[in-house]
Amino acid sequence: MADISLDAIDFKNVDEGAMYQHIEGFFSNFLIWWKLANSFPLPSHFVKANKIVISGMGGSAQAGTIAKDLLFGESKVTVELVRDYHLPAYVDRNTLVIAISYSGTTEETINTFIEAYSKGAMLLGIGTGGQMAALARKYKVPYFEHDYEAQPRAALHVHLAAVLNFMSRLGHVTISDEMLGRVDELETYMRAHWVETIPEGNNEAKQLARKMFNHVPIVIGDGVLCGVAGRIKSHFNENAKSMAYYELLPEMNHNALVGSERPVKSPEWLHLLLLDSKYTDEQNKTRMVLTEQLFKDRKFKVTRQQFNSSSPLEEVLLAVSFGDYVSYYLALLNQVDPTAVNVIAQFKSKLAH
Ligand code: F6R
Repeated sequence: MADISLDAIDFKNVDEGAMYQHIEGFFSNFLIWWKLANSFPLPSHFVKANKIVISGMGGSAQAGTIAKDLLFGESKVTVELVRDYHLPAYVDRNTLVIAISYSGTTEETINTFIEAYSKGAMLLGIGTGGQMAALARKYKVPYFEHDYEAQPRAALHVHLAAVLNFMSRLGHVTISDEMLGRVDELETYMRAHWVETIPEGNNEAKQLARKMFNHVPIVIGDGVLCGVAGRIKSHFNENAKSMAYYELLPEMNHNALVGSERPVKSPEWLHLLLLDSKYTDEQNKTRMVLTEQLFKDRKFKVTRQQFNSSSPLEEVLLAVSFGDYVSYYLALLNQVDPTAVNVIAQFKSKLAH
């Protein structure tokens, strides 16, 4: 067991990049950026798009994966995520391509931006500037430029607020004032349960981080929490510097269940975090409970987490916040700076032509 205290955190020494402030500010910042996105002029013809493609990589793609889950039950048009160099062949003048890159320099996303323009697609960029902003100026297409200083993954609230705001204004998802009004209550919940001043004995985020210490996390997503499962997996990677994986229900019941026969030697080193969504098929709820039991019987560590929400948006935001805290506390137990991701930059520079 890590004998590091999570109740007397020395922020100056362990959190050099000040990741904590982004995690703590998630809900209030989401609302701020929602309002800013709301005054961004969207070209009126975007409403005619009959396909939507959201392009981005890593932390910048997460707004897309999460928004896609929220759009699924409402949007009448195809919504697809691209995390690669090329757009699908079907992209045409009737497709809206939203490219998100915090830095505006990620080569895969930039390539899709260029492709979208050459295919005559409706095009919108989101980020802090860089090459994408320059291209947007050249192409005379809208670019939602922000100046939130953080690692891309810690700017999720900006990108998610922007994508959801635009999608809601184009009629692909309903985000009511009442739903937004309740975001303050989510912050109150977070402050009462997960922040650093809540002692470990009462803090389920700290408790889960402690259980995850020296384990391989496998996050299971379900319903509207599939994109969040990917987000939390990436946070275990990038904040806690730990290998981590994710699986989705019901799909994993058709393969990973069989795989649970191994490793025979130490399955207890794998810790499944089941994100139990209220907004899913009833059969999936049963699958969630049965999956939990099966993995427990096979000696895996398992935590099933529910979120007290009154809308899919609330559930998604709470789950993101919970994952942020758990991965942050796990970083502290691992004694690593939650912010640093030097190897990504080194890797990108090796690829530069
Ligand atoms: C780092 C992070 C990364 C980046 C990714 C793409 O915090 O989250 O996954 O998001 O390397 O870079 P951007 O977001 O600048 O397009």
